[in-house]
Amino acid sequence: MTNTKEQFMSSKLRHLPVLSKEVLSLLQPKPGEVWFDATVGLAGHSQLILTAIQPNGRLIAMDQDPAMMVLAREKLGNEKNILIFQGNFDQISDLFAQHQIPLVDGLLADLGICSVQLDDPQRGFSFRMECPLDMRMNQEIGERADQIIARSEEEELADIFYYYGEERQSRRIARKIVQERKKQAITTTGQLANIVRSCLPRSPKQRIDPATRVFQALRIAVNDELGALERFLSQIPSIVKPGGRVGIISFHSLEDRMVKLEFKKQDLWSTITRKPIEASEEELKENPRCRSAKLRVAILKDPSGQPVSNETNLGIG
Ligand SMILES: C[S@@+](CC[C@H](N)C(=O)[O-])C[C@H]1O[C@@H](n2cnc3c(N)ncnc32)[C@H](O)[C@@H]1O
Repeated sequence: MTNTKEQFMSSKLRHLPVLSKEVLSLLQPKPGEVWFDATVGLAGHSQLILTAIQPNGRLIAMDQDPAMMVLAREKLGNEKNILIFQGNFDQISDLFAQHQIPLVDGLLADLGICSVQLDDPQRGFSFRMECPLDMRMNQEIGERADQIIARSEEEELADIFYYYGEERQSRRIARKIVQERKKQAITTTGQLANIVRSCLPRSPKQRIDPATRVFQALRIAVNDELGALERFLSQIPSIVKPGGRVGIISFHSLEDRMVKLEFKKQDLWSTITRKPIEASEEELKENPRCRSAKLRVAILKDPSGQPVSNETNLGIG
């Protein structure tokens, strides 16, 4: 990781957690509660929740990226009422058991990646700079993007670009990648971006780089983001108290659909947001990253299928 500290200091100043007003008003963290931030990142949401649950509240936070853990620890400090650990939320039941964490009053997950990860030249998430084509959120495990590019069949690559990136020219791009990799291994962001751009000439009016969708698709594939979300959603009821509030912010229509379907399970959830909450015009002006953010919130029912009031909730667990 390069210049993490410098990036942190500058991103600390400009970091704006998405939909923060809506997160607080819909999740309603209260003094004395125990909350879990499944994607701590730069700890923007964590800080808001931590403030709302004082006095006597406790914050549990995690991230799968060891580099983000360092930054989150710096930002949140080492107070006794904060526990930060590293791991993938798709193993959350086991991680809670391992760390002996009791059921929590509420949970937030803000999916995807942080600006610090995107801007780090060693991570390979961005086509705006020339760097190794890695894209793993946890660089200690798993297959890098260049390895997926090197070993996948043309059809597999096309499916990744089509399903995860909604790229209509997926087949043409996959074909070109297969031709190019025969000549030379594709190992950098610049090489891949140029191949994609050569398949999709850019019109002068187009604001979005043609490589955007392919990079997003590859990142989702490298980190198995949809698989991890599916496993996570199924484990949430095992770590939250009945009556606990759960909020998920997603940035991709496939993720939002998964959250929507999960919260539709009427034996488990009372939905608070019938439609996903999106950023206001005002927030979009300040933070364009919110453009595709969608927040859904639901309350976990008790095992008999009844909603639990907040008063009852305070006594459980
Ligand atoms: C959008 S950022 C979160 C920003 C955070 N809410 C804030 O206010 O600073 C998403 C974070 O989730 C982490 N992440 C993504 N998928 C994860 C997973 N499966 N398990 C744990 N952390 C994950 C990423 O490493 C990244 O740091």
